[in-house]
Amino acid sequence: MARLTTVFTCSACGHEEPKWHGRCAGCGEWNTLAEEKRAPAPARRGGGGGGRSAEPGEAVRPVRLAEVQAIQVARLQTGIGELDRVLGGGLVPGSLVLLGGSPGIGKSTLTSMALGNLAGAGRRTLYVSGEESAAQIKLRAERLPGAALDVPVLAETDLDTVLATLDAERPEVCVIDSVQTLHAGDLTGAAGSVGQVREVADRITRLAKARDIAVLLVGHVTKEGSLAGPRVLEHLVDCVLQFEGERERTYRTLRALKNRFGSTSEAGVFEMRQGGLVEVQDASARFVGEATRAPGSVVLAAMEGSRPLLVEVQALVSPSELVPPRRVANGIDRNRLALVLAVLGRHAGVGVGSADVFVNVAGGVRVDEPGADLAVALAVASATRGIVAGAGARPIACFGEIGLTGELRTVAHPERRLAEAAKFGLAPIVTPAGAGRGAAEAATLRDALRAGLGAAPAARAA
Ligand code: TYD
Ligand code: MG
Repeated sequence: MARLTTVFTCSACGHEEPKWHGRCAGCGEWNTLAEEKRAPAPARRGGGGGGRSAEPGEAVRPVRLAEVQAIQVARLQTGIGELDRVLGGGLVPGSLVLLGGSPGIGKSTLTSMALGNLAGAGRRTLYVSGEESAAQIKLRAERLPGAALDVPVLAETDLDTVLATLDAERPEVCVIDSVQTLHAGDLTGAAGSVGQVREVADRITRLAKARDIAVLLVGHVTKEGSLAGPRVLEHLVDCVLQFEGERERTYRTLRALKNRFGSTSEAGVFEMRQGGLVEVQDASARFVGEATRAPGSVVLAAMEGSRPLLVEVQALVSPSELVPPRRVANGIDRNRLALVLAVLGRHAGVGVGSADVFVNVAGGVRVDEPGADLAVALAVASATRGIVAGAGARPIACFGEIGLTGELRTVAHPERRLAEAAKFGLAPIVTPAGAGRGAAEAATLRDALRAGLGAAPAARAA
């Protein structure tokens, strides 16, 4: 395969550049340089070695993967352990990371802290904000630890100005907060529209790749949970991070939805404090410590990426005058709650009838895994019957997926979940069959309820 070279050609005057520029050096026009792949001039022959051909169209000996030279990239450590871990070991120079999350979740705080640490470590940084004035950004930075005040800021919404500044300043790491607030002047449509967002991200990507700038693109998500507009960016960027949690609560989780340079099974837990975001390394201990010993409360042995995490799941079942009654799910999927309620009624003799049902994962944590089913079922059954789950002084823990025929199904990493529960003295832990030592295994939801709630009298429908 002939090696192609990249040139950037001005669509206005035809001027050529080896690298991308915001402005054409030939005619002075902005954003007219377009990337082109060219085959090299057929003059050089035989210089390549290793079977590489100099002539286009000539056969080439493919290289065994083991002989391919691995590219070693030195990652940029943000100094925020949980963020670096989710990224796969830090930021890759020249990469594009999209950080999504609902307004107020802490995206600006997280990115300001990351840039502050990088600036403190002597890296060139730039914080571009189209949302806040420089004074507002400073107010935030004053609350944050580290060198957050050393980060240069640019409060600007015009894309061309931002690109020109990036080109002139050449930071190693740059934050664009947010991609929806920048506006490409030559394009119709309001800032934040799909066309604008795509154009903004596309031009930033080209400049970032050409200049080796690691870019953290902040994007707002809509109520439906999808990255509004930024959805179209997911294929363009190298890494998509999602910052989740509830604004009023203190805990937030950071997850990778896509990562070209690392795994997507990592997640980090943070707490929003007065002085910014604090990494929570002992999240299980906190949640177990805060768990109540009241009817309607159980502990779920969940997985946050590759780490086990114990969280409290609470349920409240109360008579309702509403038709249809309320089904409120915080931290779990609403459809999953409907499924669990249906199976509880049909196969386990726990009918909630026309009562309102509220289910909540404490601390504002979100658990999006089928392993949460059993905890939801146990919490609802415990609330319906008014019985405290588990016998001892410690709360009862469980995990498992519930099938439509009332069976309990295995979920990933039972041994890690069991070990985490054991670490906090939560035993026995109710699990699907075959989970391993220390588990009170149950084949069906009915069996699991018996193990968790004891030999309760026949359920009374609410
Ligand atoms: P912010 O990072 O501005 O959220 P986003 O950029 O995602 O919209 O911060 C969100 C909230 O965090 C805000 O309501 C104030 C609060 N906060 C703290 O509690 N402590 C702090 O140190 C900072 C900087 C913010
Ligand atoms: Mg913000």
